[in-house]
Amino acid sequence: MTAFHRQAGSLMSEQVALSSLAEAHGTPLYVYSRSAIEQAWKEFADALQSRPHLICYAVKANSNLAILDTLVRLGSGFDIVSGGELKRVLAAGGQPGKIVFSGVGKGEGEMAAALEAGIRCFNVESDSELSRLAEVAAAHGVIAPVSLRINPDVDARTHPYISTGLKENKFGIGMDDAMASYRRGAELASLDIRGIDCHIGSQLTQLEPYADAVRLLIDMVDRLSAEGIALSHIDVGGGQGISYQQSDESLDIAGWARCIMAAIGDRKLEIIVEPGRYVVGQAGVLLTRVEYLKSNADRHFAVVDAAMNDLLRPALYSAWQAIEPVETLPREARMYDVVGPVCESADFLGKQRNLSIAEKDLLCIRSSGAYAFAMSSNYNTRARAAEVMVDGGESFLVRAREDIDSLFANEFLLP
Ligand code: LLP
Repeated sequence: MTAFHRQAGSLMSEQVALSSLAEAHGTPLYVYSRSAIEQAWKEFADALQSRPHLICYAVKANSNLAILDTLVRLGSGFDIVSGGELKRVLAAGGQPGKIVFSGVGKGEGEMAAALEAGIRCFNVESDSELSRLAEVAAAHGVIAPVSLRINPDVDARTHPYISTGLKENKFGIGMDDAMASYRRGAELASLDIRGIDCHIGSQLTQLEPYADAVRLLIDMVDRLSAEGIALSHIDVGGGQGISYQQSDESLDIAGWARCIMAAIGDRKLEIIVEPGRYVVGQAGVLLTRVEYLKSNADRHFAVVDAAMNDLLRPALYSAWQAIEPVETLPREARMYDVVGPVCESADFLGKQRNLSIAEKDLLCIRSSGAYAFAMSSNYNTRARAAEVMVDGGESFLVRAREDIDSLFANEFLLP
């Protein structure tokens, strides 16, 4: 049984009918399948089992506490990019010793909180950050565990907005400067240089960019070792792509792991991986109801109750996500642009989709577990959607729909 499947014409999540969830909780509604999350995470665990490794789920993909909780129970680690994500992981019961902290702009307060919690490692992205972290650690009388994020200048062959491993991107320390940064870091008493890191982009569907990047990192590991700087782990980042439409294949995780391990060879390095999208992407859907069907000249629109504030990916990256009716009903088929109520022409969830639908029908937008709710906003003073987790035949509300009054509760009238 797959996480989302049809039974007698009705779309189900595990053993729960999606229509019953929309009925109970209203729309727009995010629905996640616990077993799909667990299965995807276990693909990494199985593929890497022959080597010491740590799977650090990239919290930014979907930071709902119930999702973090699901992963904590599997023994997962976490990749965070803010003090806020640190708090979430700790609130979900995550072990600090399994947290890595990425990001180009860590603030001093965030560094201090992470040091206090006792995280596994900071993925440092610049010389200035290295100095700042050393200062903060010294001021707190602790030693900060450090890995340098290298920008290997490798083309991830993905959307430019989610490509991070090219020289022109803001991320990481360039190959030419990294050796000097390592030497500096090794001399700072409040730093413990432990690893090397890279993350070259997101939604990667080919192995070559990974192989190229890891080979470059390994070459640096060897050069550092020759200088007496011994590293104990290599963090290969996340980015493993999923299949949004039939024409693109998801990355084969077993093959990906073989390729990484081949590049590492018999060096005694723990492997850290930071997958986000692959773990949760296919495990979530967004349910939305058709409000109106309308036509402007020969263009047909399905105006639905979800919008770009709920799901930004189509507007921001021209991302394509499958849209289908939750119930198979006898309707006339037409080509529709599926659009939301927000006042922007970029407010679309799908364009030119062949759909058999009527007003009030329920639609399901697939592959919405990653970078979907997490990137939602309150634009147009729209309350953010509710979230539900399905587990077998049960379902649990894991985030209540926002209350409109709360959206401006922190605002003030002038005196
Ligand atoms: N590690 C680091 C340092 C990252 O920056 C990211 C994602 C990940 C891990 C996880 O990458 P993943 O396995 O999820 O591809 N909003 C975009 C994706 C942005 C990814 C940002 N960084 C989207 O909706 O496609």
